[in-house]
Amino acid sequence: MPQENDQQHYPHRKEKHEARRDFLKQSSAMMALALTPPLVIKAAQHDEAIAGIFEKMPVSMEINGKKIEVSVEPRVTLLDLLREQLNLTGTKKGCDHGQCGACTVHVNGHRINSCLTLAVMQEGKKITTIEGLANGEQLHPVQEAFIKHDGFQCGYCTPGQIMSAVACIREGHAGSPEEIREFMSGNICRCGAYDNIVHAITEVKQGGKTV
Ligand code: FES
Ligand code: FES
Repeated sequence: MPQENDQQHYPHRKEKHEARRDFLKQSSAMMALALTPPLVIKAAQHDEAIAGIFEKMPVSMEINGKKIEVSVEPRVTLLDLLREQLNLTGTKKGCDHGQCGACTVHVNGHRINSCLTLAVMQEGKKITTIEGLANGEQLHPVQEAFIKHDGFQCGYCTPGQIMSAVACIREGHAGSPEEIREFMSGNICRCGAYDNIVHAITEVKQGGKTV
């Protein structure tokens, strides 16, 4: 009889055990559901934000007189757009941190460090790079003066120096060697061609040619 009882009761105890286990499982799941939504939402928002960084956006601008329309990720700098997407590699990447001036281009006539501005911020703007300075085969007067005065050695800083020099003269900041040095101080030359750069700029300024 006890065996019978046991047999009779065993399934019952087992059922109870299973029911209890199921209940615990369910309540844990419910607890998890109740607790995780904010985390899940946060994670989803985070993923969305990350995805937004990589989602390309259309942007149109004029580069060296040509209208272009491109799709770029919002995190892409103007410098990287020029070099990596448009193959305009004349603009150099030195520090990529706004400290050397190698990436200088003109935006709506003003010189800027293209490593410090996003491509998507250039909507509708006019960009000039070193490739757009010459008039066909005819070099720009500042380009000619740099060659004449040996304003470079390795040449890596030269596109940025020339873009800055043109702006320096246009801005009216090339009145003396001291002023030129001051207003060209954002452009670093590791080779130390500074004296010759100043001579080149001075000659163009004094020559009175339109730059
Ligand atoms: S690369 Fe932009 S300032 Fe150096
Ligand atoms: S010419 Fe070499 S860095 Fe200026």
